[in-house]
Amino acid sequence: MPLVTMKQIMADSVKRATTDVDPAERYAVGAFNFSTIPEMVGIVEGARSKNAPVILMASLGAIKYIGSLELIAETAKGIAKTYPEVPICLHLDHATDMEQIKQAVVAGFTNVMIDASQEEFEVNIAKSKEIADFAHNHSPYGINGCSVEAELGMLAGHEDNIHVEESGKAYTDPALVKEFVTKTGIDALAVAIGTAHGFYKAAPEIQFDLLEAIRKETDIALVLHGGTGVPEDDFRKCVAMGMSKINVGTGLKKVYTDAVREAIKTLPETEYDPRKIAGPGRQAIAKEIASKCDLFNCTGKTPDVLKSIYA
Ligand code: 13P
Repeated sequence: MPLVTMKQIMADSVKRATTDVDPAERYAVGAFNFSTIPEMVGIVEGARSKNAPVILMASLGAIKYIGSLELIAETAKGIAKTYPEVPICLHLDHATDMEQIKQAVVAGFTNVMIDASQEEFEVNIAKSKEIADFAHNHSPYGINGCSVEAELGMLAGHEDNIHVEESGKAYTDPALVKEFVTKTGIDALAVAIGTAHGFYKAAPEIQFDLLEAIRKETDIALVLHGGTGVPEDDFRKCVAMGMSKINVGTGLKKVYTDAVREAIKTLPETEYDPRKIAGPGRQAIAKEIASKCDLFNCTGKTPDVLKSIYA
């Protein structure tokens, strides 16, 4: 199956999040940052093992390292052809350069994130709207071939190109949500409710009352950033309360690197086959994604996602 948009991949989850279903029936789609092409494949293999949809996230650092937006988009299209049973969305993460975001839409990304969260509210609205208008109308896949995520509020922490001090963080203000979503026309909203990017120095204190208030303000998908190091019960609670996408990045880098380090330690020095050295990294990523699918209650949800896209 071709790449799908984030709006499509999350439609079933959003429906469950915004209607009166048993909270135990709710789930979030996992969104995972990659730095290399083998990690992209490992992420999809993990989702496939759980019959789950998945979102591949390219950070600005990954684009620089891998080479170009086009290389990543074409690779993701190839992966989607190779794993036709997995609904896959290709997402541009935390982008700030308007031209680069538009280039990603044209290259074939199926979701882009405009992160103007550090700007004034009105500027955030204007930039997010410009990207939403562009993405909905200029994808090579046709009208609405690319969806859009924007952020309101600001997470603390470090993630590739973004760095926000603890003192600079700002929770999402529920009173601004409706206006922001209506004026911008975005498809998903990243919220700041107490998580942070990167490894935590202390356990995060998630503001569940804030999540409840935000969820009441809008029917679009809500996105939890800063998934590394969030306690499992907090994830479950966020999902039950209507979070539809959960981003994990830093923790995956560690999973990959730990596995490669272990392989180098264990293999004889005469072993020089990169597949034997880096292969365990890709396998470890797949295993980690599989466990996240269980945690986000996303395991086995592919048929429901497909039904909501193609019905
Ligand atoms: P972590 O690196 O903290 O898991 O956050 C990932 C993220 O939110 C990417 O947008």
